[in-house]
Amino acid sequence: MRKKISIDQLIPGMYVVSTNRSWLQLPFFKKRIKDDRAVAKLREHHVTELVIDTEKGSDIPIEAESFPVDPFEYPEVINENLARSNHVHQQAIARTGEIMDAVRKGEDITPDAVNQPVNMMIDQILDDPQSMLCVSVLKNSDEFTFNHCVNVAILALFLGKSLNLSRRQLMVLGKGALLHDIGKCMVPQEILSKPGKLDKSEAEIIRTHVDRGVKYLSKMRDVPKEVMDFARDHHERLDGSGYPRGLVGEQIAWHGRVGAVLDVYDSLIHENYYKGSMDPSSVLEKMTEMGGKFYDEKAVKALVDCLGTYPPGTILMLDSSEIAIVFEPNYNNPHRPRVLLITREDGSFFEHPVPADLTETKEGTSVYKRTILTVMSLEEIAFDPFKILGNFSLQGTDIS
Ligand SMILES: [Fe+2]
Ligand SMILES: [Fe+2]
Repeated sequence: MRKKISIDQLIPGMYVVSTNRSWLQLPFFKKRIKDDRAVAKLREHHVTELVIDTEKGSDIPIEAESFPVDPFEYPEVINENLARSNHVHQQAIARTGEIMDAVRKGEDITPDAVNQPVNMMIDQILDDPQSMLCVSVLKNSDEFTFNHCVNVAILALFLGKSLNLSRRQLMVLGKGALLHDIGKCMVPQEILSKPGKLDKSEAEIIRTHVDRGVKYLSKMRDVPKEVMDFARDHHERLDGSGYPRGLVGEQIAWHGRVGAVLDVYDSLIHENYYKGSMDPSSVLEKMTEMGGKFYDEKAVKALVDCLGTYPPGTILMLDSSEIAIVFEPNYNNPHRPRVLLITREDGSFFEHPVPADLTETKEGTSVYKRTILTVMSLEEIAFDPFKILGNFSLQGTDIS
């Protein structure tokens, strides 16, 4: 957990994530405080406030006061958060790959094998939902099915957190999302990864993933009903046009209705955002239009409400000519989210993303410093934004 403390509370053994002075203005690099000399050096360089990570180093005494950390005050915290989210995302994809390989081979999977990656994602989403979502939107993986299941889980947990679900409810929702397409492991790989349009019989085979998945899950130990509902009903549509059973309206279980919305949102983003045909805002707009006919309106509204007008991970061109990635929606002023700048005004790339709040005004005036000009597609910017977002390391060194 990250805590904001004053320099008076700093002791050797603590792990410093950031300070109120840029590391560039300090004579050493981060992060673990080795001894009292390191504390004294920080004082000499006018450090008055710090953010520490209590999982990596000593904590402050229980009775001592600390303050919630606003990452936007500390760019290093954002880099650290992105690094952690990237790590959790990679780990979750690796664990999901292991689960799916086991299913492909006809082996049993234990509840623990599923609980572990979901728990990891819950911890990260509770700690820092925005960077987790940014990473999941922008990090493209060759293995679509693993990536899709992890991304739907991250989206589900992001939504669940915004609805104040309990940890147990988050666990159920996250597991449902992670396992919803498990039946695809039993569909021939050449059909799953076939580029271009599928013929009728191939499409029929893909559709069998729902029943195959439900059959597999029903043999697994300790699978909650809601997880089954998610897997069984995520391709059903309110008007009865879905599959496999063509259920209508409330015949479709609630977790299936939420699952359908999350599943389609992620699929549309990944099918279209990379190719430039539709950005996350337009996907949400389209889903809102279709809500009521195909999708549960309450579920669509809940997703729109938590993702905002410009969902985290959306790429923007600003009137300053800078390119930015949406980091945190602004629910009070939807067109002025908090963003991460990835280029300067002249188009050159920053080494690390630079936080900026679009509500900021030019000094002494009420004129906004930056305003959104347009949403950009990943194809238009012609580079991988993750090269900037991923330009950080989890490795720290001792401060001495
Ligand atoms: Fe599916
Ligand atoms: Fe899916």
